[in-house]
Amino acid sequence: MNNATHRLDLSSHPRYDLLEGPTPIQPLPRLSAHLGGVNLFVKRDDLNGLGGGGNKLRKLEFLLGEALAASADTLITVGARQSNHARLTAAAAARAGLQCELVLTRAVPRFDADYLENGNIVLDDLFGAHVHDLPGSANALEFANARAEALRAQGRDVYVCPLGGSSPVGCLGYAACAAEILAQSQALNTPFARIVVPNGSGGMHAGLVAGFAALGVDPQLVQAFTVYSKADHARANTLDKANATARAIDAALTIEAPAVVIDESQLGDGYGIPTDSMREAVRLMASKEGLLLDPVYSGKAFAGLIADVRAGRHAPGDNVLFVMSGGTPGLFAYRSAL
Ligand SMILES: Cc1ncc(COP(=O)(O)O)c(C=O)c1O
Repeated sequence: MNNATHRLDLSSHPRYDLLEGPTPIQPLPRLSAHLGGVNLFVKRDDLNGLGGGGNKLRKLEFLLGEALAASADTLITVGARQSNHARLTAAAAARAGLQCELVLTRAVPRFDADYLENGNIVLDDLFGAHVHDLPGSANALEFANARAEALRAQGRDVYVCPLGGSSPVGCLGYAACAAEILAQSQALNTPFARIVVPNGSGGMHAGLVAGFAALGVDPQLVQAFTVYSKADHARANTLDKANATARAIDAALTIEAPAVVIDESQLGDGYGIPTDSMREAVRLMASKEGLLLDPVYSGKAFAGLIADVRAGRHAPGDNVLFVMSGGTPGLFAYRSAL
């Protein structure tokens, strides 16, 4: 990946500053030695400062840019009860002086007090968001759009963020991250043979694919583990989002299906449902490196990376980068599952 020379110009897209600059790339020496075979690195997107940190802040920079350009005074978004995206939307709204409403469904079959009231829910409340608590069967986006109309009728200017913040505008945050990773890889003189990410609503993956394509780097470099939907659905959804993001960067840029590499092996029984390999991954990362994965996204994706290293699916000596996407409040919500 070190030979790319293209530049990515996103300056025409409004952006509201929520980050402190590039997040570090760090080696994982103990875990690499423990697993053997490859050199593991992490991109610390969990270290983004606002609201407990995490990958969604990159998307929210562009989403808030668009919202503020449209003079919004209120943000509404949707998600599961323990949505990290919802929590960070609430934090970003607080930072920007906007009101925030979260439409959260009980779509994940966990009904213990920690899941329902701890973790992200505690923080949503601290950030001043108004939470709408909906059953698992509810259509959250429909509810959000109806609520937006009702608020508009009262004179408010409302911006609705989609699930996971993964509109083409939101995905630009991870296109920018692709350029950041490329620059760091060149500065560290460390070419990465693989970049591993979780795929939920697909925006992080789609943004990286579009960004690398725009930079002249083969997007197949990125490998995602789906944690939300079956691989066929995740592939189609991510390809659509990658193409919409690519068009927002450069009207002539298109992404072909093989560019989107998605593995379904860590989905288990479904979104938000713990697996034994996730538990092992969370514990291994914590006990060998002192770093925190989350139970819903990064824990499952890192479990996939561990399985691939053990199965010899990476060439010996390869540098493999894992994007730490945050979500640590989820550890408290999943206390009984760890
Ligand atoms: C901690 C964490 N990691 C990864 C993801 C997945 O990102 P995306 O929804 O863009 O696929 C999410 C999404 O909510 C998340 O909260």
